[in-house]
Amino acid sequence: MTQIHTVHVPLGDQAYDVLVGERAIDAHWPAIKALFARGRAIIVTDGHVATYHLAALESRLRDSAIAPEAIILPPGETSKSFATLERLVDTLLDHNVERSETIIALGGGVIGDLTGFAAAITKRGTDFIQIPTTLLAQVDSSVGGKTGINTRHGKNFVGAFHQPRLVIADTALLDTLPERERRSGYAEIVKAALIGDAPLFDRLEAAGADILGGEKLDDAIAAAVAFKAQIVAEDEKEAGRRALLNLGHTFGHAFEADAPKDAIRHGEAVAAGLALAFDYSVRLGVCPPEDAERVKAHLRETGLPDGPKSLAFTGWNASSLIARMKDDKKNKDGQITLILARGIGKAYIARDADPNDLAAFLTDEV
Ligand SMILES: NC(=O)c1ccc[n+]([C@@H]2O[C@H](COP(=O)([O-])OP(=O)(O)OC[C@H]3O[C@@H](n4cnc5c(N)ncnc54)[C@H](O)[C@@H]3O)[C@@H](O)[C@H]2O)c1
Repeated sequence: MTQIHTVHVPLGDQAYDVLVGERAIDAHWPAIKALFARGRAIIVTDGHVATYHLAALESRLRDSAIAPEAIILPPGETSKSFATLERLVDTLLDHNVERSETIIALGGGVIGDLTGFAAAITKRGTDFIQIPTTLLAQVDSSVGGKTGINTRHGKNFVGAFHQPRLVIADTALLDTLPERERRSGYAEIVKAALIGDAPLFDRLEAAGADILGGEKLDDAIAAAVAFKAQIVAEDEKEAGRRALLNLGHTFGHAFEADAPKDAIRHGEAVAAGLALAFDYSVRLGVCPPEDAERVKAHLRETGLPDGPKSLAFTGWNASSLIARMKDDKKNKDGQITLILARGIGKAYIARDADPNDLAAFLTDEV
């Protein structure tokens, strides 16, 4: 068995651990099963994940005399909606969920965000644990307590901060993940390194394309989670520093919003956004051009887009992208907030991006 990393998220009485590694569920089973003292476990998952991974979890629970009760939702971003939330909360209440019991979110970021939010509001707050099954969810969305759904106004516009009691990032669950999803999730590891962990970026760069599988990936997930945990501990509700975690995302969200449905994955948009954040930082004269070149070379080597022109969709319009960026949740007083970088591992929050200069830059880039 490979090493299981334990990353602690130090949030006082809401502190929890993130277990990372192959078969982390098996390695920590005694502590996990203790969370289901009532003798049953409600599992929320989606149709794809259920096909691959639900039976194994159910059988493990049954072996410990815990009765599994699965709620299977449709896969995909459209499940992060008021309609599915209502259905989920009603189903949890039909199951007579108690505040003291622990709900399991088994799935990618969609299931984690939706289940976490349902847990936050059902009976004014029930406990939940995350068993993330995509690389994106293991490295990013399962940690930090942001939960929520989308509205017609935008992604994640309704939600709550609700920390899980435990996160089990069992990397064996990634074996069934399509290659494109794996690559997309990897972009969030690159992001963490670029924000504030230059030695991690050196390791990613040294591993090259090999980083996408095996123990090196486990180590990289654990490092990225540890980095996120530290930022979340400093600024749980995103009053300041936590905004750094949005490196690449202001651009990325604009691409996602303007792309045809399902044309690009979140991580691909983020990868293009990382490249743009570095290129724009170079344009402003704050970042050495060599650093931006290293970032783009690594994105290319790992099969990720190194800018908008290498995304699967390319029909962008700079003014429409800028309009999207003006809607970003991080903005203050009507100004566009960008996360930029003074170099690899040196991201900073820029509150006063000039929309005209940004438009000129984007017109050249897209
Ligand atoms: N809460 C946060 O801090 C945070 C951070 C980043 C992203 N997010 C959110 O995460 C969501 C995206 O998450 P995602 O990329 O995991 O998408 P997802 O949950 O939609 O999963 C992607 C696809 O992979 C399938 N899948 C999941 N695990 C699988 C497995 N092991 N094998 C085979 N197929 C599998 C799913 O059914 C789905 O079709 C977005 O809604 C985004 O807003 C939240």
